[in-house]
Amino acid sequence: MFDFKIPADDKAMMYRDLASALEGLVAGEPDAIANMANASGLIYETLPDVNWVGFYRNIDGELVLGPFQGRPACIRMTFDQGVCGAAAKTRQVQRVEDVHKFAGHIACDSASNSEIVVPLIRDGELIGVLDIDSPRFARFTEEDEAGVVRLGEILSRVL
Ligand code: SME
Repeated sequence: MFDFKIPADDKAMMYRDLASALEGLVAGEPDAIANMANASGLIYETLPDVNWVGFYRNIDGELVLGPFQGRPACIRMTFDQGVCGAAAKTRQVQRVEDVHKFAGHIACDSASNSEIVVPLIRDGELIGVLDIDSPRFARFTEEDEAGVVRLGEILSRVL
């Protein structure tokens, strides 16, 4: 059972606790869907000011919706669509302070104003992306990026 709350007041400590909670949640579990489902729940419950946390999986060169928390979202995207597509195509983290200014952004939830998308790569293969949205503009700082990239590294090993 997971019934503790990670305090969010000290961001560095929060990301350390979040990373170790995630490592514990996925330890020994080989099922990718189960791990993505639990990871989205853990991250959604822990990070303040987020309205969507989830995964798009690389299925034959297309991004297909995976487990998530938040409102129902767009199901398929090409690598040329959206912030997620940009992360998949460039294999670079996309940290977008104002999604309304990002050409090609796909609005799944009109409440979203900023977004971070981390590509998940294992052995040179793009497995998918981790996408986190916030209703707050410029919600994700460099410190958040470092923390979310660390989560992505943990996840890439178990997806
Ligand atoms: N905004 C994303 C689409 C996915 S939803 O935010 C869940 C994008 O532009 O890639």
